[in-house]
Amino acid sequence: MLARQLTPRSLSRAAAAAGAVSPARALSVWSAVPAGPPDPILGVTEAFRADTNPLKINLGVGAYRDGSGKPYILPSVAAAEAAFVGQADKEYLPITGLASFTSAAAKLAYGADSAPLKQGALAVTQSISGTGALRIGGAFLARFYPSSKTIYLPTPSWGNHTPIFRDSGLDVKQYRYFDKRTVGLDWAGMLDDIRAAPKGSIILLHACAHNPTGVDPTRAQWAELSHVLKEGNLFPFFDMAYQGFASGDIDADAFAPRHFVQQGHQIALCQSFAKNMGLYGERVGLFSLTTSSPEEKARVDSQLKILIRPLYSNPPVHGARIASAILNDPGLYKQWEGEVKGMADRIISMRTALYNLLTNTHHTPGDWSHIKSQIGMFSFTGLTQPQTEALAAKRSVYMTKDGRISMAGLNEGNIEYFAESVDGAVKGTL
Ligand SMILES: Cc1ncc(COP(=O)(O)O)c(C=O)c1O
Repeated sequence: MLARQLTPRSLSRAAAAAGAVSPARALSVWSAVPAGPPDPILGVTEAFRADTNPLKINLGVGAYRDGSGKPYILPSVAAAEAAFVGQADKEYLPITGLASFTSAAAKLAYGADSAPLKQGALAVTQSISGTGALRIGGAFLARFYPSSKTIYLPTPSWGNHTPIFRDSGLDVKQYRYFDKRTVGLDWAGMLDDIRAAPKGSIILLHACAHNPTGVDPTRAQWAELSHVLKEGNLFPFFDMAYQGFASGDIDADAFAPRHFVQQGHQIALCQSFAKNMGLYGERVGLFSLTTSSPEEKARVDSQLKILIRPLYSNPPVHGARIASAILNDPGLYKQWEGEVKGMADRIISMRTALYNLLTNTHHTPGDWSHIKSQIGMFSFTGLTQPQTEALAAKRSVYMTKDGRISMAGLNEGNIEYFAESVDGAVKGTL
C-alpha cells in the first residue's frame, strides 16, 4: 500500500485531531514586529525600583513630591473632589468637554481681559491633559494650517514632542535653544535658526519652565521673539504645561502667550493641569486657538469636533469637574493659588539649598549658579553621562542620562546625600 502523502494541510489536520498546536499557526502574525527601545524616563524609574539601597533617590520622574518625598494631593483638589464624589453622574461629556471647565481654564491662561476671549473668538476644547492638547493641535495644523507642515522644536525639548508631532502628520525640525558651555540659553543660535525658518513655519515655544533645561527666555527676549516671529510670518504654538510652577505666580508664568496675543499674533496653546493641580493621572488639559471672529471660531470648533470624535469621542469627566470647581469658586481658587505657590517655593528653596551645598560646603569644582537661575521642576545640571552612570551605580542616585534632575524629588531628608554624591561624581572620588 502506498504511504499517504503528507501535505501541510494533512499535517495540520492530523495535529489538530491530536490536539497539538497547528504548524500553520506557529508563526504569529506579529512575529516580524521589532522590539522598540524602552522609554528613557520610565527606564530610570524601573532601575530605581529594583535598587535595594535605603538611601536611593529618584530624580528622573517629572512629578511633584512633598517635603518628605511623597506624592502630594493638593488640599484644594481634595476639597473640590469631596464635594461631588458619589453625587455626580457618570454621563458622557460633550466632544469638547465640560464647558464650565474649558471657559475658566481659558481665562486662566489668557487673562480675563484678553481680546479674543472677550470677542468670543477663542476656539477651545478640553483635552487628554497636555499630551492630548499637543496631539489635537498637531493634527489640526496638519489638516488646516495653510502655510506649512513643518514645526520647529527647541533643542533639546520634552522627549514626547517629536513623536507627538510626527504622528500628528507634521515634519519636525529643530532650532538651537540650550548652550552646553554656559548651561544657559543659546539666544543668538535660537534667533538665527528661527529667522532662517521658511516663512509660515510653525514654532513650538515652551511658555514657561522649559523641560528639560529649566532655562526660559527673559521678558525682553520674549518681546523680541514676538517681533521675529511676526517678521517671518511664523506661527507660535505654545506648550504651557507648568503655569504657576515656574514662579509660583499664575499670571507671571502666562506672560509669553499673553504678550504674543496682545501683539496681534494668532496662537495655538496647550495647557495641562497635571502639575499645577497635581492631577497627573486624571488627564485634564485644554487646547485653544485664537481666531479672528466668533464666526471663524464656530467653523474651527466644528472641525475640532470632527477631529476629536474618531480619536476618543469625548474627554474624561472626573478631573475636569475638580478643576472646574477650583477655577470657578473664589475661595477654592485662592486656596489653590497658595498651594501652587507652596509647591513652586519648595522647589526654589531646594535650588538655593543645593547651590549652597555644592558651592559653599563641598567646594565642588565648576559654576553651579545655573541651579539657582533655572526655572520650574527641572534642572539641567551639566553632569555628564559617565557621571550620571557612576551616581546610579555607586550612590543609587537616579536621573536621566542627559543630567536632568527633577528638583521636586529633593527634600531636606535627601539633599545632603545628593550634594555629597554629586561632589564625588564631579571630583571622580565615588
Ligand atoms: C513640556 C511638556 N509638555 C507637555 C507635557 C504633558 O504632560 P501631561 O500630558 O501629563 O499633561 C509635559 C509633561 O511632562 C511636559 O513636560
